Amino acid sequence: AVIRREDYCPPAWAVPDITLDFRLDPAETRVRATLSVTRNGAHDEPLRLDGAGQTPVSVTVDGAVVDDWRIEGEQLVVPLPGDAHIVETEVVIAPDRNTQLMGLYASGGNLCTQCEAEGFRRITFFPDRPDVLSVYRVRMTADARRFPVLLANGDPVAKGTNDDGTHWAEWHDPYPKPSYLFALVAGDLAVNRSTFTTMSGREVELGIWVRAADLAKTDHALHALKLSMAWDERIYGREYDLDVFNIVAVDDFNFGAMENKGLNIFNSRYILADPDTATDYDYDAIAAVVAHEYFHNWSGNRITCRDWFQLSLKEGFTVYRDQCFSADQGSAAVKRIEEVRGLRASQFPEDSGPLAHPVRPESYIEISNFYTATIYNKGAELIRMMATILDPAKFRAATDLYFSRFDGTAATCEDFVACMEEAGGVDLRQFRLWYSQAGTPRVSAGLSHEPGGGRAVLRLAQHVPPSPGQPVKQPMVLPLKVRLFGAETGRPLTDEQLILLDQAAETITFEAVTERPVLSINRGFSAPVVIESDRSAADLAFLSAHDDDPFARYEAMQQLMLDTLVAGTINGEMNAQAVIDAVARTLAAEGLEPAFLAEAVLLPSENFIGDQLAMVDPDAIHAARESLRRQIGQALTPVWRRLYGEMAQGAYVYSPDAKGRRRLRSVALGYIAASGAEDAAALALAQFDAADNMTDRQAALTTLVSSDAPERDIALERFHARYADNALVLDKWFQTQALSSRDDTGAVVATLAEHPTFTLANPNRARALIGAFGMNQRAFNAANGSGYRFLADQLIALDRLNPQTAAKLLPPLGRWRRFDGNRAQLMRAELARIVATPGLSKDLFEQASKSLD
Ligand code: ARG
Ligand code: ZN
Repeated sequence: AVIRREDYCPPAWAVPDITLDFRLDPAETRVRATLSVTRNGAHDEPLRLDGAGQTPVSVTVDGAVVDDWRIEGEQLVVPLPGDAHIVETEVVIAPDRNTQLMGLYASGGNLCTQCEAEGFRRITFFPDRPDVLSVYRVRMTADARRFPVLLANGDPVAKGTNDDGTHWAEWHDPYPKPSYLFALVAGDLAVNRSTFTTMSGREVELGIWVRAADLAKTDHALHALKLSMAWDERIYGREYDLDVFNIVAVDDFNFGAMENKGLNIFNSRYILADPDTATDYDYDAIAAVVAHEYFHNWSGNRITCRDWFQLSLKEGFTVYRDQCFSADQGSAAVKRIEEVRGLRASQFPEDSGPLAHPVRPESYIEISNFYTATIYNKGAELIRMMATILDPAKFRAATDLYFSRFDGTAATCEDFVACMEEAGGVDLRQFRLWYSQAGTPRVSAGLSHEPGGGRAVLRLAQHVPPSPGQPVKQPMVLPLKVRLFGAETGRPLTDEQLILLDQAAETITFEAVTERPVLSINRGFSAPVVIESDRSAADLAFLSAHDDDPFARYEAMQQLMLDTLVAGTINGEMNAQAVIDAVARTLAAEGLEPAFLAEAVLLPSENFIGDQLAMVDPDAIHAARESLRRQIGQALTPVWRRLYGEMAQGAYVYSPDAKGRRRLRSVALGYIAASGAEDAAALALAQFDAADNMTDRQAALTTLVSSDAPERDIALERFHARYADNALVLDKWFQTQALSSRDDTGAVVATLAEHPTFTLANPNRARALIGAFGMNQRAFNAANGSGYRFLADQLIALDRLNPQTAAKLLPPLGRWRRFDGNRAQLMRAELARIVATPGLSKDLFEQASKSLD
């Protein structure tokens, strides 16, 4: 069934209070739920409670067993005569048979929950929708030896032991919350504890809970948590509101983490870190996700979403908040570059493909399919644009207004925008199109100059491409930061200006432009759009050397590389010299940090090159990119060798500077290998063996895994032996091989799927191999269709266990419109096979059928 935004109705019954009593057991858990329900408005609707996969053992109303309840679809329907009742249900569930990892499930011998979006109904009968807010009391009873730790939302109230070997604990969360924020954990866990004193002087007890062997890997996450708590006080005036804040790490988890009130539950990959097992990228991701989930306490929990169409209200805003937090921990410029690279790798393709949807969707079949880059990352860009339009002080006033006006409620995207308008004193009527129109706007920019008159004219035009269900689009409001530079002097000719492009086409005139101007546009990536400009290779090279906005400087180089690679793909040959010169100049420039240099000299990915082309020829793209890499490697060999030596460091430290040096060194190693140097493999293996940290070790492995040298297998073997008992590191072993550019990658991946340690039951492992393979444009798109068949086989198998994770891995098959007839036909055949599979989940059905149309 299709759920539509326009069909929203307020709930017929409210549930101000709920008491849950769990008798926990992996095979058979009994859940007694006591709901106080009150009629919401005048109507004679019965009480409808969502359920999934269970039938009630008993139903009582106001203390008396009733039997006039019925099951309609998956809902429990209870006729209720008056306006206020106590309704009690009892159900039995089996956590250890829960392979979907939604609701109450077992992971590594412990029990935990995941309820967002609609997992609570798999635990008990309840109006499982985000606009029903309740105060929760939870009592858990479990075997004291198997489950010595019992955690739930809110604050602990009481605990005790029974004579039968069980013990119990009670928790109370005073803040009314929707069911998707419910959580409990029962298990054998060790804790890393600390405290945080809030701005009003309250002491909060912090705990990160993991299996005992992992305790030493939790300090980084704990530190990040304290930084996040302080940051949210300083930047948004938001204080934590309970006496305890707990985080639990589990190995089996469908996504990154979950912001359950007072009890965040995390995928262990976003908690556990030490230098030997986690890369710099992992460290940064841990801090970002810890911050993200913590920030949800206000943007998500204190103020939640009225319905799931409003998901970006909490996710887009919270991603924006975690992005700004991360920017404050190190280099803001590099952080912004990484964000844009991520947006282009995941959101832009989504926005131009069959699964495109607005930031506030109009309909869905399965809400789990809408936890997307569009809702999260494009949603964050919308908040960023409003912050840019308002300016920092007004933006803060607007978020203050939002937090105070909607505290304790379930709000909408419209509520948020209205606060921006009111406190910001701006008119955002047209801006709202960003919430309703899908598709990435394309902006053409042409700058002309009257040499005599000193006047420059910038012609801007915007076009929003059609997307499924939206053939015709309105012009949007695009905040574009612009500056002109003098081609001769290299000096800025204007200040930075913020242009709000809100027409289909506009002309902007600059006076007193005394020399030929070069256009720097969309500085800082002020709008999430594609810029189409007619800037020459020379002008792009000029900007890559002279622009004062680091993002724009990076962007000019990327555009130069992209133009070169697109030409190389289409023509089979290219002029590499402009890129080589620009790279050389950037590497020689004064005052650029290593992390920036590393980003600036990296070529765009094969996927991103493909996204520029009407017809993707994966082999031609690969050949062009490898050729350019080789030429850059060879032409600048002395520079790469020098950097490789200079960027070496003493003992490992984790700091922005040390990270940047490691990154630049690994980029240098990559170019040395690309140059075809005879000693490259030996150099990489030496780095692999000598490394005192995972960043250097994995960088060496990544270089080797695409080579034909014997060192490749040696490194893979040593890596596997060293980390055989570390699941998170083994994921890297699978992923690195799935991303290899060797010709045999498809066959290797098929063999790895049969490896004894490969399992579809663990989402991290499935993503490491199958997800990574789908991103490997050339290997996945093998002309004989073997990659397509492999992916479809795996998805059909995974769907039986875990529909959500299966559906997430489908999008590579939906790119068929961009490929030649032969490949397109093969992809469509696999999509059709998926759609025709008996017993398919609605998750995978929605993604596959939409991709096929
Ligand atoms: N709210 C969580 C977060 O962003 C993610 C929940 C994902 N849920 C899902 N059904 N995919 O932090
Ligand atoms: Zn989130």
